[in-house]
Amino acid sequence: MPSRLIRLSLRFVLPLALVIGLIAYAVVPLIDNLTLRWFIRDLDARSQSLAIALQEPLFEYVPQKADKRINQLFDRALRDERLYAIAFCDPTGTAIYKTNTYPASLGCRTEQPRDGRKESLVSFPQGPLHVSESQLDIDGQALGKLILVHDMSFIERRSADTRKYVIGLFSLLAIVISMITVFVAHLSWRDWIASVKGILRGEIGMQNRSQTTPPEVRPLESDLRALLHEFSVERRERDDSTHLWTPEKLRDLLHDELAGDEVLVVSNREPYLHARTRNGIEVQRPASGLVTAVEPVMRACSGTWIAHGSGSADRETVDRDDRVPVPPANPSYTLRRVWLTKEEEKGYYYGFANEGMWPLCHIAHVRPVFRSSDWDQYVAVNQRFADAVVAEARTDDPVVLVQDYHFALLPRMVKEQLPKATIITFWHIPWPNPESFGICPWREEILEGLLGSTILGFHTPFHCKNFLETVDRNLETRIEYESSTVSYGGKLTQVEHYPISIAWPEQPVDLSVIAECRKTVRDEHGLPSNHLLAVGVDRLDYTKGIIERFQAIERMLELHSDLVGKFTMIQIAAPTRSSLDEYQNFETRVRTMVQRINNRFSDGNYQPIILKAEHHDSEQVTRYYRASEVCMVTSLHDGMNLVAKEFIAARDDDRGVLVLSQFTGAARELHEALVVNPYHIEQSAEALHRALTMPEAEQCERMRSMRSLVKDFNIYRWAGRMLLDAARVRQRERILSKIRSHSRKSLRRVV
Ligand code: G6P
Repeated sequence: MPSRLIRLSLRFVLPLALVIGLIAYAVVPLIDNLTLRWFIRDLDARSQSLAIALQEPLFEYVPQKADKRINQLFDRALRDERLYAIAFCDPTGTAIYKTNTYPASLGCRTEQPRDGRKESLVSFPQGPLHVSESQLDIDGQALGKLILVHDMSFIERRSADTRKYVIGLFSLLAIVISMITVFVAHLSWRDWIASVKGILRGEIGMQNRSQTTPPEVRPLESDLRALLHEFSVERRERDDSTHLWTPEKLRDLLHDELAGDEVLVVSNREPYLHARTRNGIEVQRPASGLVTAVEPVMRACSGTWIAHGSGSADRETVDRDDRVPVPPANPSYTLRRVWLTKEEEKGYYYGFANEGMWPLCHIAHVRPVFRSSDWDQYVAVNQRFADAVVAEARTDDPVVLVQDYHFALLPRMVKEQLPKATIITFWHIPWPNPESFGICPWREEILEGLLGSTILGFHTPFHCKNFLETVDRNLETRIEYESSTVSYGGKLTQVEHYPISIAWPEQPVDLSVIAECRKTVRDEHGLPSNHLLAVGVDRLDYTKGIIERFQAIERMLELHSDLVGKFTMIQIAAPTRSSLDEYQNFETRVRTMVQRINNRFSDGNYQPIILKAEHHDSEQVTRYYRASEVCMVTSLHDGMNLVAKEFIAARDDDRGVLVLSQFTGAARELHEALVVNPYHIEQSAEALHRALTMPEAEQCERMRSMRSLVKDFNIYRWAGRMLLDAARVRQRERILSKIRSHSRKSLRRVV
């Protein structure tokens, strides 16, 4: 209550008091002064005309000394209530005729009036008097002086009245104006506050904007939204960073936040494939960033992973429902294999996904190829996998994690059959700008398919922005850039960036292992113990910048010939998509280049580049990471690139330098790497030289910082953040559906 009073007086009483004070001390004296001057001028004029009127009879009566007549004349004149007294003085200055009221102290006003007349104000106890003197001459001879005295006390009375009215009027005006102002301000403030509250609650913007947001709030709306989004991102990141994300924490999250809801993963590439070899059936882990990232998550979450069964012995290792428990040594989730015919694989996987979408999204100067027949297979295979998801789901609202560009249509297909499912789609490769995406003949279908997702994830904010702009360019949707949501066909999709990562190795640091790796790797290749090594680990893919990397090595050896014979690059290159011409040609180019460079610098034994174009399991790869001074990642365009993070995780000794392409998602996080433009061969050559000659202390400082980042921002955090966001959406939807069913029941009761 007291605070209300204070607020009231501040808003209303105080300005009013100020207005009244201003009137009393400035306006009223000004008006007084003005009216006084008007009245004096008025009395001057009256006195003058009265003197003229009295002059004639006085010329007649004074010489005759007709006292009685003169007195009568004066008495008549005094009937005018404002005329207070009259006197007539002879030329000697004696008042020979005067009314009783004439103040003796005035005498005959000795000063000689100017122009024959003189007026002045004289103060008396009864009030101010206006005294006017007029000289009366007859034929040039002075007859005497007529003094007329007017009472001015009425002016004071009038001035007091005027003051009263002016103050009253102005105060009234001020009150009315203040009340109108307060009222209007109150109304707009209420609207304003209601709108701002709406924005804060996320109500405005989800409906028709022009109906809900008052115009004066609109310029603020986007800023407020952006601020809120920033706050929530910051808060989420703060929440996230309080604990190290581990498989246990992810399991707890599933249990606590998702009430143990079932999790289904869909991807093209399977996490384990069974291959028939000379030694019998072998289990292999394919070279895939997607598999590296998602597999540890599935181990923690259990559930079912649906993927293409592409291994030569896959059919022999599944049960009659095409399922196999994995990991084979210690099963913790189910792999459900989907079989594809050669034709399906050709159209959907090699054709549309890898000849169309892959080059389209990577913009690595390989023309995308789009064929209608591939598209038809892509649609059909997406539908087959969607049906498999529905068949595998034990509940009507599973959490479905859809992976990558092979399944752009699947989110909508699943949503149509399981409307309550929470679909989290993650796009593992870059999303191009709208112009580049525009060449896809089925762009609208792809976008519609993806917008069946509840959450759509990319590695970087830049890819999210590209996606939103592409949607904006191609579909009739409502996009909220600040909150990063797209509303399409009454459904909302949250578009968010979740930088993918790796599982941080759990085994304790053992530096002897590093020393062992350094030694054995060099021994295996017949290299001396002080030989400098760089490592590259990639699929033989044209997006990886392998050609540019080799050119940089050649240039480095040209510029720093002291390193010829002392440095070697070991390039591990897993064969990939080899049925495609583009990949076959690429492999040929790579091999030819390696041969040429090796011939150029070779002295018989020495090879600057050792190309190992075959599959390596993760333990073998880790040995190379540990044995090398430098790891080179020179992708021409890459969503994230997990090799960069794997190298960091392998360096328990805090040594080693990462040369990293600026066109990878990883470059946005790993600022202590030597970041290069892979198209700039000289720059990459110098970076490689700098990496090979970097002092240990600097290596250590850089590596420690990157290790702590990758350890914190690990794959469990990536999955955890997406699942937490999904849990929030699910909770909101459950509450909404309860409210809806409650209001339907109430309506039925009323009817
Ligand atoms: C990239 C894609 C993955 C894919 C991997 C290997 O990392 O994002 O989806 O699994 O390449 O390619 P592949 O065609 O052999 O599965």
